[in-house]
Amino acid sequence: MGTGLQKKVVIVTGGTSGIGEAVTRRFIQEGAQVSIMGRSKDRLDRMSDEFGKNLLTIQGDVSKYEDNQKIVKDTVEKFGKLDVFIANAGVFDGFAKFLDVSPEAVEEAYDYLFDINVKGSFLGAKAAAEELVKTKGSIIFTVSGASFYPDGGGVWYTASKHAQIGLLRQLAFELAPDVRVNAVAPGGTLTALSVIPPLQPYVKIIDNDTKAKNIRKRNPLQIAMSSEDHVGAYVLLASDESKAITGEIISSDGGLSVRGLG
Ligand SMILES: NC(=O)c1ccc[n+]([C@@H]2O[C@H](COP(=O)([O-])OP(=O)(O)OC[C@H]3O[C@@H](n4cnc5c(N)ncnc54)[C@H](OP(=O)(O)O)[C@@H]3O)[C@@H](O)[C@H]2O)c1
Repeated sequence: MGTGLQKKVVIVTGGTSGIGEAVTRRFIQEGAQVSIMGRSKDRLDRMSDEFGKNLLTIQGDVSKYEDNQKIVKDTVEKFGKLDVFIANAGVFDGFAKFLDVSPEAVEEAYDYLFDINVKGSFLGAKAAAEELVKTKGSIIFTVSGASFYPDGGGVWYTASKHAQIGLLRQLAFELAPDVRVNAVAPGGTLTALSVIPPLQPYVKIIDNDTKAKNIRKRNPLQIAMSSEDHVGAYVLLASDESKAITGEIISSDGGLSVRGLG
């Protein structure tokens, strides 16, 4: 028996890199048809070369409604329906410290990061909702350990990832009984997650070995997580095996909630 993803039609925003790319690769292996959106054409072309006819690539920005609308429309035209919308695209604040950042940069960073992490999630859900009602489908948000705890980023990232939880809960309530709405909350993961331009002058770039060491130190399972480590949670939430699950968040973080007081 497979994972039940065969013939599912899935959109993954930010499917060209990191967690979104790993989810895309696995879903296609499982027999799903997938559409991805990202801003960089080179990354989209690389994915297209690898996956051919089971992948649709759309160059676009999740913070623009018309781009979300386009990927939904083109997906339904090409694959006939939409079963799952994965709002995964996101950007980071690099742990920039609130006190260090100028008021102008605080504001600019807020607009830049919330436009992608929060507004992008709102607009994607809005553009997909009608098609998902038709298929009794589901939405999956990529949230974060920063949706629950401080120090998974700076204030911009942490607040944006908390905001996604509010969106998830209200949508799960409003879209029931037709559409399930859930999330995966990865812990620190070795990806290229990029620091937004307004905060780049305020952050130190750390090399991957140091990043891996820091991540391992913080979670009880002592895993420096890779994108692939989270994919199983998306598979479960996208499949009909989770038909009674809505409004839930699967933490895939090496056990951050059981760190204890020590
Ligand atoms: N890495 C971690 O430690 C970690 C931990 C917890 C949660 N997360 C979350 O996981 C998600 C994926 O991040 P990742 O770590 O896999 O980072 P990543 O490797 O940088 O992937 C981010 C993806 O989002 C796309 N993207 C960014 N801004 C976009 C926009 N405005 N419109 C469309 N696409 C956009 C990127 O492509 P383009 O740049 O070409 O647009 C890329 O495909 C994010 O929501 C992040 O907050 C990451």
